Amino acid sequence: MNVADSELVAGLLERSGYQRTHELCDAQVILLNTCAIREKAEETVHNRLDRLAALKAGNPSILIGVLGCMAKNLADSLLESKPYVDLILGPDSYRRLPEVLQHRQTDPSTYVDTRLSRWEVYDQLLPYRQSGVNAWISIMRGCDKFCTFCVVPFTRGRERSRSIESIIAEAEDAARQGFREITLLGQNVNSYHNGDTRFPDLLQAVAAVPGIRRIRYTSPHPSDVNDHLLEVMASHDNICKSIHLPLQAGADRILKRMHRDYTQADYCALVDRIRAAMPECTLSTDLIVGFPAETEPEFQATLEVVERVGFDTAFTFKYSTRPGTKAAEYTDQVAEAVKQERLERLIQLQKRITLERNRTHVGSVAEVLVEKESKKSTAQWAGRTDGNHWVVFDKQNVHIGDFVAVRIDSTHGIALQGHIATSEEAYHALA
Ligand code: 5AD
Ligand code: SF4
Repeated sequence: MNVADSELVAGLLERSGYQRTHELCDAQVILLNTCAIREKAEETVHNRLDRLAALKAGNPSILIGVLGCMAKNLADSLLESKPYVDLILGPDSYRRLPEVLQHRQTDPSTYVDTRLSRWEVYDQLLPYRQSGVNAWISIMRGCDKFCTFCVVPFTRGRERSRSIESIIAEAEDAARQGFREITLLGQNVNSYHNGDTRFPDLLQAVAAVPGIRRIRYTSPHPSDVNDHLLEVMASHDNICKSIHLPLQAGADRILKRMHRDYTQADYCALVDRIRAAMPECTLSTDLIVGFPAETEPEFQATLEVVERVGFDTAFTFKYSTRPGTKAAEYTDQVAEAVKQERLERLIQLQKRITLERNRTHVGSVAEVLVEKESKKSTAQWAGRTDGNHWVVFDKQNVHIGDFVAVRIDSTHGIALQGHIATSEEAYHALA
């Protein structure tokens, strides 16, 4: 979401005559788009700001801005502890950036605007996209779910959705620019609604945009996944069969205390419905360990669901207290050492499951969209399958943006290794 927001800001500034530089020392304006979801994310920003302070000491004319969720959440403490910060703009104030930068030329006081809007969806603001194969399209902003651990409803405000017309226009524009894949984004993407248009209707309309070969979306809430959505996914080849479905925890008491309005049984039944509709659909999830008062048996309930569902991958987090949230008021916080130990057990379990699931692909031929050079070798490409698995293979004569048939030879960790399939291998895979 922050990558997409940064592209939005970059587009806005480019149209106001600014140019982007990739060298920090060339920049006259440096904006950090920040995340407040966990303490660790905030620490990263504090460290980065401390380094920028040194840069600014050497060149006081540089403007430093903090954007996004931390700006909203921590404006006062930033003002106090980081006096060298020139602007603090919350997630709904980006439109004002060109004007604020102008204003700042004559007024040296720190500019702060962290007001949240009920309407701002940044319609009509075309993002400056990094070249590549995937275009992020933000379709809704904010969240009304108020999970008790989560700061998002406070930093990003109430839910609001863009019009289907402007989303489709943006998708068409991305297709014209050569993007092959679109990822629809929202804090709570499938609670999208605009007039009578609901998320499955929107997905169907995006799937009809010529030139878009793959559509993904993130992150949905399990309670807003309905049969219509599954039907639309199942009936369109260009909608990827892959769902990121945050579970958060396995025990009903913890889910209730998290305000996640589903039970373990509801979640597992939903997984069964997804697999009945799309047997090949891959699943990933978010999991939190050590939520206040989580007991060992309750943590084990998480392990059991993880084992039962068999997620392809999982993003695992230690619970991190977010000031202002309901869960921050709970007095029964879990000790850090216990959280750490649970996290490690969960990671071990998920590693094994990921490996087991990945092994089922060895020997098959997958259609891979070539996305970038592999981190490990300049002689290899990395691309993703429809099911969101990363595959690494020798480059040969294919290019970024191509779709290629790759035979999967092995898997060690999270990625698959393969080679571009011979026509015979591809033929046998299809037969
Ligand atoms: N502590 C730990 N993890 C959190 N997440 C959100 N808030 C917290 C928190 N306070 C995780 C959730 C969410 C993901 C984006 O971040 O798992 O789905
Ligand atoms: Fe946070 Fe997601 Fe819950 Fe909204 S649905 S409060 S963004 S965890």
